[in-house]
Amino acid sequence: MEVKTSLLDNMIGVGDMVLLEPLSEDSFLENLKKRFDHNEIYTYIGSVVISMNPYRSLPIYSPEKVEEYRNRNFYELSPHIYALADEAYRSLRDQDKDQCILITGESGSGKTEASKLVMSYVAAVCGKGQEVNKVKEQLLQSNPVLEAFGNAKTVRNDNSSRFGKYMDIEFDFKGDPLGGVISNYLLEKSRVVKQPRGERNFHIFYQLLSGASDDTLKKLKLDRDFSKYNYLSLDSAVVNGLDDATSFRTVKNAMQIVGFMEDEIRSVLELVAAVLKLGNIEFKPESRCNDTDESRVRDKNDLKEMCELLGIEQTVLERAFSYRTVEAKLEKVSTTLNVAQAYYARDALAKNLYSRLFSWLVTRINESIKAQTKSRHKVMGVLDIYGFEIFEKADNSFEQFIINYCNEKLQQIFIELTLREEQEEYIREGIEWTNIEYFNNAVICDLIENNQNGIMAMLDEECLRPGTVTDETFLDKLNTVCAEHQHFESRLSKNSKFLNDHSLPHSCFRIQHYAGKVLYCVEGFVDKNNDLLYRDLSQAMFKATHSLMKELFPEGNPSKVNLKRPPTAGSQFKSSVGTLMKNLQTKNPNYIRCIKPNDKKAAHIFTASLVCHQVRYLGLMENVRVRRAGYAFRQPYGPCLERYKMLCKRTWPHWRGPAREGVEVLMADLQVPTEEFSYGRSKIFIRNPRTLFFLEERRRQCLQDLATLIQKIYRGWKCRTHFLLLKKSQVVVAAWYRRYAQQKKYQRIKSATTVVQSYARGWQARKLLRELKHQKRCEEAVTTIAAYWHGTQARRELRKLKEEARRKHAVAVIWACWQGLKVRREYRKFFRANAGKKIYNFTIQRIMQKYFLGVKSGLPSMSPVDKNWPARPYRFLDAAHAQLRSIFHLWRCKKYRSQFSQERKAVYQEKLEASELFKDKKSLYPSSVSQPFKGDYLEISKNPKYQKLNSCVEEKVLLADVVNKINRANGKGASRILLLTKKNVVLADQKTGQVKASVALPDLISVSVSTQNDGFFALKLKEGSASAVKGDFLLSSEHLIETITKLHHIGSTASDDGEQLDINISDEFLVQFKQDKVCVKFIQAAPKNGNSASCKRKNNRLLEVSVPAATA
Ligand SMILES: Nc1ncnc2c1ncn2[C@@H]1O[C@H](COP(=O)(O)OP(=O)(O)OP(=O)(O)O)[C@@H](O)[C@H]1O
Ligand SMILES: [Mg+2]
Repeated sequence: MEVKTSLLDNMIGVGDMVLLEPLSEDSFLENLKKRFDHNEIYTYIGSVVISMNPYRSLPIYSPEKVEEYRNRNFYELSPHIYALADEAYRSLRDQDKDQCILITGESGSGKTEASKLVMSYVAAVCGKGQEVNKVKEQLLQSNPVLEAFGNAKTVRNDNSSRFGKYMDIEFDFKGDPLGGVISNYLLEKSRVVKQPRGERNFHIFYQLLSGASDDTLKKLKLDRDFSKYNYLSLDSAVVNGLDDATSFRTVKNAMQIVGFMEDEIRSVLELVAAVLKLGNIEFKPESRCNDTDESRVRDKNDLKEMCELLGIEQTVLERAFSYRTVEAKLEKVSTTLNVAQAYYARDALAKNLYSRLFSWLVTRINESIKAQTKSRHKVMGVLDIYGFEIFEKADNSFEQFIINYCNEKLQQIFIELTLREEQEEYIREGIEWTNIEYFNNAVICDLIENNQNGIMAMLDEECLRPGTVTDETFLDKLNTVCAEHQHFESRLSKNSKFLNDHSLPHSCFRIQHYAGKVLYCVEGFVDKNNDLLYRDLSQAMFKATHSLMKELFPEGNPSKVNLKRPPTAGSQFKSSVGTLMKNLQTKNPNYIRCIKPNDKKAAHIFTASLVCHQVRYLGLMENVRVRRAGYAFRQPYGPCLERYKMLCKRTWPHWRGPAREGVEVLMADLQVPTEEFSYGRSKIFIRNPRTLFFLEERRRQCLQDLATLIQKIYRGWKCRTHFLLLKKSQVVVAAWYRRYAQQKKYQRIKSATTVVQSYARGWQARKLLRELKHQKRCEEAVTTIAAYWHGTQARRELRKLKEEARRKHAVAVIWACWQGLKVRREYRKFFRANAGKKIYNFTIQRIMQKYFLGVKSGLPSMSPVDKNWPARPYRFLDAAHAQLRSIFHLWRCKKYRSQFSQERKAVYQEKLEASELFKDKKSLYPSSVSQPFKGDYLEISKNPKYQKLNSCVEEKVLLADVVNKINRANGKGASRILLLTKKNVVLADQKTGQVKASVALPDLISVSVSTQNDGFFALKLKEGSASAVKGDFLLSSEHLIETITKLHHIGSTASDDGEQLDINISDEFLVQFKQDKVCVKFIQAAPKNGNSASCKRKNNRLLEVSVPAATA
């Protein structure tokens, strides 16, 4: 919540002089002093701010302060320059009223500082943005530039503004700054050539020499040593707290920010250097023939350097310092200048050059900072102008006259505007207007500016008048024209009340300004007003190649020679002040009146006489009186009611109706006399500060009572709340405690009960246990007794039964023995001695009978190969059983054989023979057993194909088969028909049936076969026999077993001596081929090309036969 405050809160003295009671100069000063001593440097007179220079930095300009004063009402906080700046800015932004801030005060009172504070405040609170910030920065940076060129150290102020400055800051409808325009007034140019004691020239000269680089100085042909320059005073060239070198850099930087080009800055510095050089040009007299002195430049070095710097022809300038050309219509007269005139011309040139340079700077800055848009804008003007200057004795000259005239005009506008505003407010608020008595200084202004007989008009007249014109003639004129005027005094004025006042010197006149009397010395008035610069000089300057220099002296242009006199300094100033006044009148004024507390530029010192003097000439008392003429204090109803509502029961604490009615009720209740106040439309107007202080006092008391009441209620509330809290706490504590106590008690009882219970239960249990144990022991005793008893009984019974059984058994045994004895005695007669043998034989017979019958019924089949035979019934018959089986088998075989025919028998005999020959000797044999021996496989007798062959064979063919005759050369076979008869073995061609060989059986000595599964056989012939011519035969037959068996059989039967044919079974045997004996070797090989064996001639001696292994 925002806390509403007022200027009246915590006031030191009174914050607003209007409320000063009683109002007198003393109380005024006392109030100022009191506030000054408490660092309250600002005090109001209504809406006017009085600012005391603290001469030290106070912590009241921080950004936080800016925020504090931002958007607050003027009287809401303690007096501050920010309050005024805020008020002005807000009414400019919100009410669309152009504003001007008029800052006045004597030199060193803080006007320039105040203007900077106002500008910085506005810059801080107005809008932001890149463009806006640039404008703000340019506006703020124009200050250091103007201060460097326009400010100087004086005895009164180390940074004294030696020109008047009015700056219009332009804003758009949002309150953002757009740009600005600066106007300058009357630069104190005399300072360029001469400075009073303890003062110095404009800052820029010192800054340039201290801060510029060596290089720059060299270019400008300058020396860093101040003492080398006539125009620079040396006694106070160095100012405490001012660092010229740093300031130079700041100024250059500011110029760049404002928008000066590099070459512009250079040109400006060149002109500054030129002024310094100009000051060093000195003259010496040179006698002329007509007894006049003519000036000559003494040392031309500086002149030369200056001319080089500005591009001026040296002779032209030299001549301009020696001659003066006066042109009048068609005439042109050239006169020589004496040394004094030459110095005058030199100084006039320096002053003009510098002041024109300063004006050019202002114009150039204006060019940079001017608003870019042409749209309508609002304006806030800040006027930082020199205040009244009253020097002691008669040191006041033309400048002071001009300055004081300006202040008179400002005072007038102040009175006019203040009164007008006051009047407007009364009309606005519907208050009856009562005429206000005040001093109107229009009459003084008239004395100075009146076009007919005003002092300035007189001066101009004198300056323009032909003939001898001096300051004295001017004073004479004044004495005649203004003598009647009540504010004008001079030693010779007729109406003077001070005729006898010898303090008024002869060459002086005195004007009674609104702020006091000022004595002016007329010396120099005419010259200063004329402000003459010889045309030769301006023309010489125009001839310079330096463009800025040329620009500054346009009147030097010979093609535009203007014979008209230029306007005098006084008239120029008058017209510019007139424009300024007009400008100010269109704006809403805001005043800052600056006061300097002491002459020592020191903090904490309040020199009452000095302040009193300023209070007087600033017309501050006047100001307060004007303000209080009608009503001293006014306040809107709302804030008024809010502030004083506690003074009346009906308005406290809340007033529900309109604020005005509330205030009416309040005033009636307080019985304030009706003439003491008036009700306006929105404000109450209080005539006398007494009434306000009465209200404030009542409020203060009431606040104390209220504070007591609030304290009382608060304390009561606090105690009550505390008590209630304690009470509540006590109940809670008690409840908790009771609960706790009961809980404890309960737990105690519970545990006691448990103990008692446990004891009782224990006792009961032990008792029961005892009983049960007793009972158990009794039961066990009974059981034991019973067991013993039963045992005894049973044993007794058992013994009895055992006894009885023994007896019975003994009886039975005895009985059996007895019976046996009886039977044996009885049957002994029926038994023989060999009855056993007979029974045995009989039994055996019976068994054998049964056995044979069994064998008979179980005989196996008649097949000799049936291996079945019934099982033996008794072991003792084993041998008989085997014997019987063999007999049966032999018998069965006999029976089987008896069924064979002769042929069949022969066949079996052959088979038998084969078996004898080959069984278990040759692997081929088992496969031949099942093959019947057919003999004539070719059916040779029936087949007509073999008829011829058949006819060749005499005997009966016993075997005809196709065999392979193995070629002895390569082991390959050739088919041959093998015929076997009782006498011969014939080999014939298979196709043709032609007999190839016939071997008589007796020639055959042996047959060789292998042990293996092959059909190879070799017929070995008797050496030397007819058949053995070609050697032995190696043949292979599919029916080998049959062939060999038959050959063996026939061979054995055919031989006369019954010699058997030798059958040689071996895997290696020799065969006689013609002369060679070849070994035929049989090897087992893996089956290949079916199952047939293959024969291969390995070498001359070896024929290898690979026989595939017989498959199972
Ligand atoms: N508000 C302030 N706080 C601190 N110092 C201040 C204040 N106002 C002024 N001063 C000091 O007083 C000096 C003089 O102030 P300033 O230059 O503003 O005076 P002025 O009225 O402009 O004088 P002149 O008429 O000679 O230009 C400043 O340089 C500064 O040291
Ligand atoms: Mg100043």
